[in-house]
Amino acid sequence: MSVASPDLSVEIAGMQMQNPVMSASGTFGYGMEYEGYLDLSALGAIVTKAVTLEAREGNPAPRVRETPAGMLNAIGLQNPGAEAFIGEKLPRLREFGVPVIVNMSGRSIEEFTRLAEVLSVDGVDALEVNVSCPNVEHEGMCFGIDCDMTGALTEAVIGATDLPVIVKLSPNVTDIAKIGRAAASAGAHAISLINTLCGMSIDVERRRPHLGNVTGGLSGPAIRPVAVHMVHRAAEAVDLPIIGMGGIMNAKHALEFILAGASAVAVGTANFVEPATMPQVVKGLADYCRRHQVRQITDIVGALQSG
Ligand SMILES: Cc1cc2nc3c(=O)[nH]c(=O)nc-3n(C[C@H](O)[C@H](O)[C@H](O)COP(=O)(O)O)c2cc1C
Repeated sequence: MSVASPDLSVEIAGMQMQNPVMSASGTFGYGMEYEGYLDLSALGAIVTKAVTLEAREGNPAPRVRETPAGMLNAIGLQNPGAEAFIGEKLPRLREFGVPVIVNMSGRSIEEFTRLAEVLSVDGVDALEVNVSCPNVEHEGMCFGIDCDMTGALTEAVIGATDLPVIVKLSPNVTDIAKIGRAAASAGAHAISLINTLCGMSIDVERRRPHLGNVTGGLSGPAIRPVAVHMVHRAAEAVDLPIIGMGGIMNAKHALEFILAGASAVAVGTANFVEPATMPQVVKGLADYCRRHQVRQITDIVGALQSG
């Protein structure tokens, strides 16, 4: 590859990706919802919305609320369940010819383990474990806020599948580096971060929360500096590929994550504003490489200069 046509390809957890740009779980449906808005075969990978063992109805409405430079959501993992996903969604998803990463959520280690077994089928390239789920065996405490629970969950999922396992970290923790290390020591093949930050907003006239679920997850540009910082911390702490996300709206934002240490990036809330954000980010990365004489995007992963 020459500087005129830079190499954007990356390898994450054994998956070959033509570029480092993928969807963030829950913001891109199962991919096909966005057909007609962009060429899905041009993406680095497609990450599905969360799949659970059984179908889930999700939370009461309203489920989303716009906030300054972002949004709150409390969807509640609405999905058709693993078997229906495999039968009805996966066959079409595979046709785009890019790696399919399935985001998985559960309420207990046993449920996650069973889900990993069910999802280990042809056409699924990796599993992304959403550790932000409440663990019913520990009074509903999120797996991802505790090193031991994160480690135990990671180990259990890895033991249940031959697929690469990406652990998606919660930002609602005191020290992201410790949680990242727990996932790495348990054998994670990659980590992704950040999930949404816990948030809430109130309609003062009605004296009620805006969301039916009372609280929700904050995403979008408002969280980007927090996300870039956490990726930077995590990259210093673990020797694993990192998928960075949180408020990426354009290539410049994606580059912040890459320079901070992410090997790939995911675009979430931006898909609701401009469905073609991902291909625009890919183009912007290539332009940046040309302007900065970068032959391969991997050369600038973690290439942040100090001061
Ligand atoms: C509406 C919505 C639904 C989401 N659903 C999931 C999900 O099912 N599983 C998950 O791991 N993350 C989920 N997320 C978190 C995103 O994947 C991402 O980590 C977060 O929104 C930060 O990226 P962004 O600021 O680019 O949106 C969801 C986010 C939004 C906005």
